[in-house]
Amino acid sequence: MLRATGLVKSYRSRSGAPIRVLAGVDLTVKGGDLVVVTGPSGSGKSTLLNVLGLLEDDDGGEIWFEDARVSSLGRAAKSRVRGRYVGFLFQSFLLLPSLSALENVLLAARYVGRSGAPARRRAMELLEEVGVADRVDHFPAQLSGGEQQRVAFCRAVLNDPPLLLADEPTGNLDDANGAVILGALRGRARAGAAVVVVSHRPEAATGASALYRLRGGVLETS
Ligand SMILES: Nc1ncnc2c1ncn2[C@@H]1O[C@H](COP(=O)(O)OP(=O)(O)O)[C@@H](O)[C@H]1O
Ligand SMILES: [Mg+2]
Repeated sequence: MLRATGLVKSYRSRSGAPIRVLAGVDLTVKGGDLVVVTGPSGSGKSTLLNVLGLLEDDDGGEIWFEDARVSSLGRAAKSRVRGRYVGFLFQSFLLLPSLSALENVLLAARYVGRSGAPARRRAMELLEEVGVADRVDHFPAQLSGGEQQRVAFCRAVLNDPPLLLADEPTGNLDDANGAVILGALRGRARAGAAVVVVSHRPEAATGASALYRLRGGVLETS
């Protein structure tokens, strides 16, 4: 599903000096894989995920989704590809505060031009699966962190993206809620999605099909 080779990414520091965050990352993730990348804070985990998910441009290397080289596409095409292929889950959930749980999930359908009863049915099914079906009319502020992340998970998977990218998805959750989210991510991998989780927490690696450490801008096998 996903193949990245020689990925390079630098930022400029305040003084203008480049900071090389990714220094040649190679990564292959197949459908059904759950790949976990660990590394301390500042090691470039979020950068890697954002580059893989086409949210940020790389400075070199290649990214392939299936048989298409997607890293060389323009902004608009990348955005289309992202909508079709990628689901994102973030540490801070990123739900829209003015929308209900159900409306937040349905946002994902709108991005790909789907709507109506089938999208709604699927959203309810997913919310039920992760145990928040009785909270669909609640706004994010009325939900616990664990409930918010479950809703964010449903939004991320509503369109059945073949690639699921999770950035510290349990970082703001207690152990029990973290386990629910990791279990849900493992479930997507079992259903055939290619799943990448980055986390500084080693327990995220439970059940991983591959474990890497991001160090010095490259992936080391853990
Ligand atoms: N937009 C940015 N501009 C400048 N530096 C950045 C930017 N984003 C991240 N960095 C730097 O890149 C490094 C890696 O950051 P990040 O990918 O967020 O690491 P992690 O997610 O592992 O904590 C850090 O040193 C960070 O300060
Ligand atoms: Mg990060």
